[in-house]
Amino acid sequence: MVKIIGVVGSPRTDGNTFYLVKNALKSAEAIGADTEIINLGSKEIEPCIACDICKATGECGIYDDMREIEEKLMESDGIIIGSPVYFGNVTSQLKMFIDRTRPLRGNFKLKDKVCGAIAVGGSRNGGQESTISAIHDFLLIHDTIVVGDGAPLAHYGGTGVGGPKGDTIKDEIGIETSKNIGKRVAELASRLK
Ligand SMILES: Cc1cc2nc3c(=O)[nH]c(=O)nc-3n(C[C@H](O)[C@H](O)[C@H](O)COP(=O)(O)O)c2cc1C
Repeated sequence: MVKIIGVVGSPRTDGNTFYLVKNALKSAEAIGADTEIINLGSKEIEPCIACDICKATGECGIYDDMREIEEKLMESDGIIIGSPVYFGNVTSQLKMFIDRTRPLRGNFKLKDKVCGAIAVGGSRNGGQESTISAIHDFLLIHDTIVVGDGAPLAHYGGTGVGGPKGDTIKDEIGIETSKNIGKRVAELASRLK
């Protein structure tokens, strides 16, 4: 059985991103994956301070929730990362997470994990694509395998539209593309395993 982790980059732990990442994980479960969600909004994560301790020792010098999260990422077979669009990019919560994974990059501890991205913005064309690109850049720098949503809709990630919490419940494209991402990640991770 493969293990797929969903990372929610919103400060709203029960918001639109959570809902779409949850949908992605449900479709991964439907084809036999074990899943877990990590809500960055309820975690203590300090920003990287460029102390370079990780370069010398391979470990981060900061002791907070990233330690446990790093372990979970390394044990997983696939990772789905979702973010709200904030000014055309990821949230600061997700960026702190991204920068703090530097110790895992030293000897490519996330290499070959199967990964996908989901972005939710308040308006259509609100920056979902640039946000997904930012997540893809992070995933490629870790040498993970990035999948698109594999559907005729031609989305290259899960792209949702919603403002207030609960909006994405009626966002058919957001739900469909997110489910597709979950399925693709779990399918390929299973095949590779
Ligand atoms: C600081 C801030 C910046 C935002 N910038 C954008 C933006 O550039 N484009 C957009 O479409 N929506 C933007 N939004 C709206 C959120 O992306 C939207 O409400 C999203 O559904 C929030 O996801 P959540 O419910 O998971 O927190 C912004 C919201 C905030 C709080």
